[in-house]
Amino acid sequence: MGDQPTADLPVAVFDSGVGGLTVLHELLVSLPAEDYLYLGDTERFPYGSRSPDELRQFSAEIAAHLLETGVKLLVIACNSATAAAVTDLRERLKRAGSEVGVIGVIEPESVLAAAATRNGRIGLLATSATVASGAYEAAVRGADPHTRLTSVACPDLAPVIQAGSPFDAEVVAMVRSYCEPLKAADVDTVILGCTHYPLVRPLLQRSLGADVEIITSGDAVARRVEHALSIRDLLKPRSGAEGRYQFSCTGDPEAFREVGERFLQLPLGSVERTNLDSGDLT
Ligand code: DGL
Repeated sequence: MGDQPTADLPVAVFDSGVGGLTVLHELLVSLPAEDYLYLGDTERFPYGSRSPDELRQFSAEIAAHLLETGVKLLVIACNSATAAAVTDLRERLKRAGSEVGVIGVIEPESVLAAAATRNGRIGLLATSATVASGAYEAAVRGADPHTRLTSVACPDLAPVIQAGSPFDAEVVAMVRSYCEPLKAADVDTVILGCTHYPLVRPLLQRSLGADVEIITSGDAVARRVEHALSIRDLLKPRSGAEGRYQFSCTGDPEAFREVGERFLQLPLGSVERTNLDSGDLT
């Protein structure tokens, strides 16, 4: 566990399921030379209704497994897991003597949102776990204390998107009702605080209005990962060659593959089933 990360190792990206593939998509486009290892904890999806203790435990198990495999950076491509576990995971890695950095989605998205707003009113759409954690309030205030965040928990949206019918009348009505409080609060910038929501971005943009700026986890994290790798001297040289990317999940690999391509918008290839048998980080 005390091994030093090296530039030739992959970047690890994990999520509760396929949602984090929207983050991986941005990484593959922005940093194509890197190798990536993606793990979706589909067996325990959704994370959005889990307790903070569960999310810390799951994140520690996944991190132990990925570190055992050998990775140079851990990206928590899940808002719910980031809200509960990013600080805890950094502490656990430090105690284990690991030099591998941990990047979550909340702080980078909050910094982008605070920079984007013109009237200081920012909206958040996220899972119940993420909204209840208050992590975005703290991060947005940390980025700029003169901003005001209006948060809306959307408990039904990620499961409906995952189920595969993002454009039917039920989803349109759902999206409209979740956007109502944000329109009433006159926000000019909206954070998509769940990795599934970029799949209904056009519906959200139509409901919120064309002049509202939408911030996604993928945009924010790609820049942060590049910075983190660069300052650690772990970036692969931009030789023009494309890196490899691999997938594993804790549930049914075929189900992951079927849903996953819609989220990744790139060919997925094979998916391995994995057991999180490396224990966890104490
Ligand atoms: N990936 C999760 C997140 O960003 C959404 C899906 C879930 O509830 O697990 O919060």
